[in-house]
Amino acid sequence: MHVLITGGLGFIGSHAAIILLDAGYKVTILDNLSNSNIETLSRIIKIAHIKPDFVKGDIRDYDLLQSTFAKYEISAVLHFAGLKSVKESFLNPMDYYDNNFNGTVCLCKAMNSAGIFNLVFSSSATVYGDQDSMPINESSLTMLPTNPYGRSKYMVEAFLKDLCSSNKDWAIGLLRYFNPIGAHKSGKIGEVISTTPDNLLPSINNVALGRARFLQIYGNDYDTSDGTGVRDYVHVVDLVEGHLAALEYLTNNKGINCWNLGTGIGYSVLEIVKSYEEVSGKQIKFKLLPRRKGDVSISFADNTKAIKELIWKPKRDLNEMMLDNWRWVTSSNSQKV
Ligand code: NAD
Ligand code: WQD
Repeated sequence: MHVLITGGLGFIGSHAAIILLDAGYKVTILDNLSNSNIETLSRIIKIAHIKPDFVKGDIRDYDLLQSTFAKYEISAVLHFAGLKSVKESFLNPMDYYDNNFNGTVCLCKAMNSAGIFNLVFSSSATVYGDQDSMPINESSLTMLPTNPYGRSKYMVEAFLKDLCSSNKDWAIGLLRYFNPIGAHKSGKIGEVISTTPDNLLPSINNVALGRARFLQIYGNDYDTSDGTGVRDYVHVVDLVEGHLAALEYLTNNKGINCWNLGTGIGYSVLEIVKSYEEVSGKQIKFKLLPRRKGDVSISFADNTKAIKELIWKPKRDLNEMMLDNWRWVTSSNSQKV
């Protein structure tokens, strides 16, 4: 089976490419390199010992998608390409709706015209908004997300549901990720080191690497055990194993389905800092700041639907996520992206 991976040189897409190549799939990666580096392609080849095809381009380029589908016998798409910063989405909502929403519509138009109907979409736990009751299950979509990024994902989900209702050929999996962290065991691929990260682990990495003096902790007055925000951190390799399982599910089941991909365990910011310090041996200095706009207090998954239907299970614990993250950030590879 030949799979197109949009955004396949990014953090999660690159790990997915390796998992698929290892499992014997043919892979074509399409990426515009807006948040990734071509060097990642060489690293994928080094790890998987197989060369995936690569198309440099944008999912909003319909002609490019058409020619890609004409050139390769693709039968399914893993769709990771998109913008993912909550902070940026408040500043540039136009870019977020264009890239995430219009980009997905363009991709589906080209898939439809090429007769390709199997699609796995990278959604996010952020679509659930600020829920009172935990854990969150897939039917908890009772309110709008708290930020434009999340609303762009929510709109894509709505569009994909309408698409499935209109044409019974489609088989679509919405994967709602909780908080992916960690890296491939090889230390050769991982998340781009950014100078201005939004997310917790990249921000702690910057402190540990001496690029920032302290971690800014956004809020210690939440109704949690230590007052800091609680999240469900999931190893990126567990996450991409969920994609492989979803792809297999879609080959036998048409229509639309969604699954939470998380561990079901919540950790506070301070618990994450402690675990990071233990694994890295670095002291992470922090300052307590007011809550961040658009943040929710607690979020962790009810993952029983994915466990049951996808026959998937997250296998890597917090310690392993921290070890793999630390191996990546301290490797010379992470400095080159
Ligand atoms: P990433 O930025 O590392 O990867 C995205 C990749 O897509 C990059 O390589 C980028 O160059 C490419 N890209 C962006 N816009 C494109 C376009 N228009 N055309 C072609 N390529 C384009 O992000 P990631 O962390 O790997 O996330 C992948 C997907 O998962 C995203 O859709 C994101 O919204 C979603 N997601 C991520 C997280 C997370 O915490 N990382 C959580 C929930 C959902
Ligand atoms: C986790 C916790 C912060 C940074 C967002 C998106 C979600 C997904 C992951 C992309 C919170 C606290 C963080 C820092 C901090 N993204 N924090 N200091 O907000 O759960 O989710 O990113 O697709 O869709 O909504 O993740 O890692 O930003 O924050 O105190 O410098 O860490 O307040 O409690 P979040 P995060």
